[in-house]
Amino acid sequence: MKNIQSYITENKERFLNELIELLKIPSISADSAYKTDVEKTADAVKISLEKAGCDLVEICETAGNPIVYGEKIINKTLPTVLVYGHYDVQPPDPINLWDSPPFEPVIKTTEKHPDGAIFARGACDDKGQMYMHVKAMEFMTSTNQLPCNVKFMIEGEEEVGSVNLATFVKANHDKLKNDVILISDTGMIANDVPSITTGLRGLSYVEVEVTGPNRDLHSGLYGGAVANPINILTKMIASLHDENNHISIPGFYDKVEELSKDERAEMAKAPFNLENYKKALDIDAVYGEKGFSTNERNSIRPTLDVNGIWGGYTGEGAKTVIASKAYAKISMRLVPHQEWEEITNLFKTHFENIAPEGVKVKVTPHHGGQGYVTPIDSIGYQAASKAYEEAFGKAPIPQRSGGSIPIVSLFEQELKSKTILMGFGLDSDAIHSPNEHFGVWNFLKGIETIPGFYKHFTALSK
Ligand code: BES
Ligand code: MN
Ligand code: MN
Repeated sequence: MKNIQSYITENKERFLNELIELLKIPSISADSAYKTDVEKTADAVKISLEKAGCDLVEICETAGNPIVYGEKIINKTLPTVLVYGHYDVQPPDPINLWDSPPFEPVIKTTEKHPDGAIFARGACDDKGQMYMHVKAMEFMTSTNQLPCNVKFMIEGEEEVGSVNLATFVKANHDKLKNDVILISDTGMIANDVPSITTGLRGLSYVEVEVTGPNRDLHSGLYGGAVANPINILTKMIASLHDENNHISIPGFYDKVEELSKDERAEMAKAPFNLENYKKALDIDAVYGEKGFSTNERNSIRPTLDVNGIWGGYTGEGAKTVIASKAYAKISMRLVPHQEWEEITNLFKTHFENIAPEGVKVKVTPHHGGQGYVTPIDSIGYQAASKAYEEAFGKAPIPQRSGGSIPIVSLFEQELKSKTILMGFGLDSDAIHSPNEHFGVWNFLKGIETIPGFYKHFTALSK
């Protein structure tokens, strides 16, 4: 029987070329101008699933972007793996900071990727990682080594909150019935330090608007006599953290799960070099909540960050003006047990309460989602762990990530199954940033590792 390594050696040029074709289509979900490209990408994913051996593949229309569903049911008594991924990508801007155009993929070597990395928007998040599953499927079906049933659900709205996917999942419990959900849309510690993501943070995303006078004013004639919305907004935002970088919204930490000393000690074993971390970001110090390490701050602790802030005059030169309005977009990353809707309400009440006289404040919630933690004693985790051990030659480290995939907790709630997060990207792959890339080695290693998961999951399910 053909093994996965030789299958990859024989087919890797084709795998890369196919991925490059997929990366050329700008499937930007945030911008409706790209609707046709989004649909084109869904069609391309559908064709790739048919070629990989799915028996049934369909484009499921939603109120937004289509979901591509595919399946191969070989025997109803065998377990079923549901693969989830997303074909939509983040907008590429600021476009002038890309070294090569975001939708014209090129392969270049980097310090972290001496074998080359594919540079393109979506290379790592998530087209490249999603496509590893399509190619692993192709290997298993074409060499007669698919040990169980498979379902694919590849959506086109992850980057904008998966609202229509949530509706689809709620309406299709039977169709999506599975024994485990498998996702590659996260990262790992390093190419020689494999890790499996065991947690994701939740999210609450809000927009705030501060209104002062009913029109923009001359800052000489009125300055000092009326509240300046930009001054006020920045002051309000600054007050959201105390001197220990603790978030000062009343009730914010009430449901935060505090890890035990042992759990924190276990976490601290993951390799991490603070000097390299600072060097990679060109910063002379890290910053964050007092009493927690960098790895804790970006995984097991909740945060509040301004993602964008605007108002007044930002054009060339100087204009003396007091703006009528100031705005900010704020995200809060949440940890398990914090309810995102409750946190959104706490934020809203607090932000309205701290507004001084002379301004009006409006808080508009955007989207959000719950965090997720998965136990490491489940069959799914054990199967993944064995697969990594075979492919990497060492056992993976469980690691909680700071990012969010809000639909994962909805999967658990609706479909009652656990999700295994087998991510192969690196933090340095610049997802959501200019020059996003995905290591060629990582892409191929993912394809190599995935069939092992199917094999071990099926064996452990008996
Ligand atoms: N794939 C990412 C999430 C991710 C990346 C988790 C790396 C862990 C490690 C996903 O596409 C994403 O960007 N999620 C958004 C939230 C979403 C609601 C827009 C995020 O985390 O900001
Ligand atoms: Mn993603
Ligand atoms: Mn993303």
